[in-house]
Amino acid sequence: MNLEYRKLTIDDFDAVAALDEMVEGELPNPARAAYWRDNAFEFDRSMAAFDDGQLVGQSMTYSLGMSVPGGSVLPCGGVSWIGVLPTHRRRGIMTAMMRWQMDDIHERDEPLAALYTSQAPIYGRFGYGMSHFREKWEIDADNSAFESEVESGGQIKFVEYEDAKALFRPIHERAMHLFPGMVTRSDAFWTARLYDDETGLDKPPKMFYVAYDGDEGIEGFAAYSIDDNWVDALPRQVLTVKELIALSDRAYAGLWRFCLDVDLVSTVKATRPPDEPLVWLLADKRAMKREVGDSMYLRLVDVPGALSARKYDTEDSMVIEVVDEFCPWNNGRFLLDAGPEGAACSPTSEGPDVTMAARELGSLYLGGVSARSMQRAGRIEDHTGDGVARLDRMFRSTVAPWAHMYW
Ligand SMILES: CC(C)(COP(=O)(O)OP(=O)(O)OC[C@H]1O[C@@H](n2cnc3c(N)ncnc32)[C@H](O)[C@@H]1OP(=O)(O)O)[C@@H](O)C(=O)NCCC(=O)NCCS
Repeated sequence: MNLEYRKLTIDDFDAVAALDEMVEGELPNPARAAYWRDNAFEFDRSMAAFDDGQLVGQSMTYSLGMSVPGGSVLPCGGVSWIGVLPTHRRRGIMTAMMRWQMDDIHERDEPLAALYTSQAPIYGRFGYGMSHFREKWEIDADNSAFESEVESGGQIKFVEYEDAKALFRPIHERAMHLFPGMVTRSDAFWTARLYDDETGLDKPPKMFYVAYDGDEGIEGFAAYSIDDNWVDALPRQVLTVKELIALSDRAYAGLWRFCLDVDLVSTVKATRPPDEPLVWLLADKRAMKREVGDSMYLRLVDVPGALSARKYDTEDSMVIEVVDEFCPWNNGRFLLDAGPEGAACSPTSEGPDVTMAARELGSLYLGGVSARSMQRAGRIEDHTGDGVARLDRMFRSTVAPWAHMYW
């Protein structure tokens, strides 16, 4: 092996696409590869390994922003495109790329890094903790009456593809202040997101777009596709909600009612955050099958920077000791003085109330997991007897982190 590490250039991209397709087990798709190359790939934030000139490992980071409890949006490195050729695995290539990538994110003053993983055990060693959960829903549309009539007062309107991006974008931006854990969406990601299939980006997609027009103007939108399906001459179509973002409860109820009522559709599928109110709207809770899974993984690259940038439900002051082998600048004790109005966080020599590894702090940060349950699994040490209970009261968010877009 004669390894060299360097950034990728546009001339490398055919090899990048081939490696990506190989590690993901996908068929070559030149149109899709060209789309990401020309519109979204950040070459300056890539790091790759070459063995005698052959591309054998790659990584790239998107420049994203992530919403945190309290409504701020923090710079966040969106780790992606990670893959190592099967002939070169378990020799430290991914570790070397992650090292470069983490230092780069740190130098760019991005307090957060996040990723989706193919396999859950891979990234804990680098300090990424499971922070977002998701639910896969399958709803029996014929059995989906609401508990009581929802007085929505608004109107559902179809939107043309050409108009969807401009109309939906401000809704998405406002939603980021309501839901923690959402990421910013560039123009390139908007285009891809509004397509059911990225292969033919020159053709209109087979998707439908609707907006909820209420007293306050457009209060929410949905994007969905329909799979044609007939059984014994009976309609059994499947409607997949790819996107549904609502700024008000009435828009939420109105958009779901619309999706559940589309003629010929017998099943509605969606992937949603774990605390959505639809189940409470439905008269028959069993009309909805729910499968829970892990979703996004989060890493605090700058512990005091990240902790001081969110808001907390209760006023408290505590010392958190962080063990962080991969980012030694985070190792130590931090005094967090926090509350609903904001927070301050700085290094301290005071004794700790709680001790945890960076990975657990990444899980805890957005308020979607219980510190007590992590403590029971031996992941958080409580030095005072009430440290974990106080952590839970401070960190828990009334709205679960929402991983609404894969990258
Ligand atoms: C996952 C992948 C990138 C790892 O690359 P790699 O160069 O073999 O990783 P490294 O040699 O740097 O391994 C570092 C450590 O992670 C561990 N590790 C690597 N892949 C792992 C996996 N899939 N599950 C659990 N542990 C894993 C290694 O055992 C090693 O542990 P050690 O230091 O205790 O020996 C590579 O196997 C791959 O491309 N897989 C297929 C595509 C994929 O899953 N990509 C990730 C998309 S999110």
